[in-house]
Amino acid sequence: MTGYFLLKNLHIGLALISGLGFALRGYLRLVLDRPYPGPLVRIGPHIIDTLLLISGIGLWMQTRHGLLSWMGLKLVLILVYILMGVGALRSKSRGTGIMLYWLALGVFLSIAIIAIEKPM
Ligand code: HEM
Repeated sequence: MTGYFLLKNLHIGLALISGLGFALRGYLRLVLDRPYPGPLVRIGPHIIDTLLLISGIGLWMQTRHGLLSWMGLKLVLILVYILMGVGALRSKSRGTGIMLYWLALGVFLSIAIIAIEKPM
């Protein structure tokens, strides 16, 4: 397997772990109202997300997709996803947190679909 496909598969794997991790943490914290998790559960996602970002930048440097394409839309949606995810887990109101959680999951799903389909 070439370096590019290795990096791409790593990126896809990290995206899956990151998305599933957020879905699980949010569900436990917000929907089931479980107490705040220990330090490992808090630091782990930052490590995964940093690796996801680095692998994404590595792929981008190789593919050089223009910003006026699905790539630009994906980057904007990643920013929206991060803001919604942070908002969901930090929200003082549980109702708002749950709403932001489901919206963030929807945005995450759309990022993955846009990356796979490359619609424009
Ligand atoms: C929520 C975060 C992210 C998700 C869910 C995600 C998802 C994906 C998926 C599923 C693919 C594979 C597409 C395919 O099968 O062809 C992919 C490829 C790619 N991603 Fe990401 N990604 C994320 C973050 C990033 C970031 C932060 C960057 C850049 C800064 C990035 C840049 C790329 C590039 C350049 C490709 C290769 C596209 C190609 O095949 O030409 N991704 N991403």
